[in-house]
Amino acid sequence: MHRVIISGMGIEIPESSISNEELVESFNLWVGQENQQREREGLEPLSFSSASFIEHASGIRSRHVHTPKGILDPDRMAPYIPARDDDDLSVTAEFGAKAGRKALLDARVPPGEVDMVICAGSHLQRLYPAIAIEIQKELGTGGAAFDMSLGCSSAVAGLHVAYHLVRSGAHRRVLVITPELITAHLNFRDRQTHFIFGDAATALLVEAIEEGDERPGRFEVVDTRSWTQFSNNIRSNFSYLNRAAQEDTSSVPAEGNLIKQQGNKVFKEVTVAGHRFIVDFLAEHGHTPESMRRFWLHQANARMNAMILKLSFGGVDVGHDRAPMVLDRLGNTAAAGAIVALYENHKDMKAGDHGLLCAFGAGYSIGGALLRMM
Ligand code: COA
Repeated sequence: MHRVIISGMGIEIPESSISNEELVESFNLWVGQENQQREREGLEPLSFSSASFIEHASGIRSRHVHTPKGILDPDRMAPYIPARDDDDLSVTAEFGAKAGRKALLDARVPPGEVDMVICAGSHLQRLYPAIAIEIQKELGTGGAAFDMSLGCSSAVAGLHVAYHLVRSGAHRRVLVITPELITAHLNFRDRQTHFIFGDAATALLVEAIEEGDERPGRFEVVDTRSWTQFSNNIRSNFSYLNRAAQEDTSSVPAEGNLIKQQGNKVFKEVTVAGHRFIVDFLAEHGHTPESMRRFWLHQANARMNAMILKLSFGGVDVGHDRAPMVLDRLGNTAAAGAIVALYENHKDMKAGDHGLLCAFGAGYSIGGALLRMM
């Protein structure tokens, strides 16, 4: 078995940002228009959204978006990302490749020395050819590539697979890429979810090192873990079967098949499961939450993370130095969130410090990676 490190990291955060106030203004404009129509039809009016609710309930203040055009237009409320020619680089392969290129530069590894790309995201643009293979071509990496998906745990699940592929010697260097263009799948007309998500892409280069080697400033992966338990509380029914489900196939409704979630159920159930996962996984390695210098948790909800940590620390509140937060400015970037938190918050760690990367979400799924700073 080989020792495994994360030798490079890269993130791609789109420039455009939308504040809660801007999002709510457009949502409420749409609700106003819609309610006039509903009143004429004798229907119950829709409720307005509120920026203060969003910040209080989730901790989110703004989100970066890949393509702002169309999102705030009350007549559209979806990004406008024109279809590309099949021979042009796909939008998510382009997004992921940007992060991948940065990870390779960070590791100072030429693309030809990578022998596997895993595109691990909650949102995959198509069924085939795999986005990972397009990224492989775009970056010029060797070997093979494949896509995998496990909701918001996808990136950590990708790391789990990469770790074992490298540890076993099956591959020498694996690039795990997570392009989360999630605003394209978000229902901006759904008050329960319209504020939740933002876009980001991340990349981790995972490789083997020799026994006795140390790479100061890099993380050794001590172990990884994955846990799942079926739940319908976060669900997307978007699929090639949508058309086949219609008697009349001339138009296929998108909106009813976009992301939906029962946020409060997810909050309660995943908080308990996340806490148990963290305590048990660390205990298996002779660690406790207290022995972790840092937690890079999934970035869905600030209150949820605070509660998971408080439960894990026996009732003690844990600050952002120990568990950094990026969701306030980025929103929930699905599987990319915990990796962005890791990327932005590790340079101050000392040799021998440990940290836990832990993501949770749809499935339910939870993924963890115990990291040691070298
Ligand atoms: N603006 C104003 N009020 C809103 C609102 C909005 N946009 N959305 C919901 N509300 C209202 C509800 O109607 C409800 O009102 P009521 O009490 O009069 O019925 C109240 O706020 C509470 O709604 P609830 O859905 O219970 O909110 P919450 O406190 O659970 O917060 C989330 C909602 C989504 C922020 C929160 O549940 C969450 O983040 N859950 C975890 C999600 C997660 O981790 N997902 C996994 C990763 S993808």
